[in-house]
Amino acid sequence: MNRIKLHDKYFVPFISNEKINAAIDAVAVKINNDFKNREDIPLLLCVLNGSIMFTGELMQRLDFLCELTSIRLSSYQGTQSTGVTKQIMGLSTDITGRCVIIIEDIVDTGHTIVDLQKLLIEAGAGEVKVCTMLLKPSVYRQNVKLDYVAMEIDNRFIVGYGLDYDQLGRNFKDIYVLE
Ligand code: IMP
Ligand code: MG
Repeated sequence: MNRIKLHDKYFVPFISNEKINAAIDAVAVKINNDFKNREDIPLLLCVLNGSIMFTGELMQRLDFLCELTSIRLSSYQGTQSTGVTKQIMGLSTDITGRCVIIIEDIVDTGHTIVDLQKLLIEAGAGEVKVCTMLLKPSVYRQNVKLDYVAMEIDNRFIVGYGLDYDQLGRNFKDIYVLE
């Protein structure tokens, strides 16, 4: 793995694809265990665009019946959260009374997850669970319970595995950190 340049910034290897996969394996075991005896069919909610790779990998490891839908939100500009969540593409599925499992790439300040939980409850969700690939615990100061967290990292800006710096870097299979 080498240093990569995206726009004006350099990024260096941080979390290997092998480590990401191992963390996804572990979080999938927990979800499978919690959902194995349920009668209802949960709805996985992929938060585009960042969560696309994580959702794809995670789904393959889930062994209960589930459905998939997506929503597209945006709150980041460059390497900073704006604190304002924009809805670029809304919900296209009726979620009334259903258990929705939010699948996020990363929870940072938590503004996105707070707004998303509110939106889902207002849309009639019966239950909302949160699964995130990454968490920056030193920055997260919200009350929304994060039910499943695959990996925790320090407060650093990362790219790869779906995560971008101004739209670049999403396609890398490893995660890189700002140099
Ligand atoms: P929050 O609202 O501050 O929790 O930010 C959540 C969203 O910002 C995530 O879903 C990501 O899309 C983006 N984000 C947060 N941290 C990073 C990062 O380190 N790299 C790239 N995107 C990030
Ligand atoms: Mg995101």
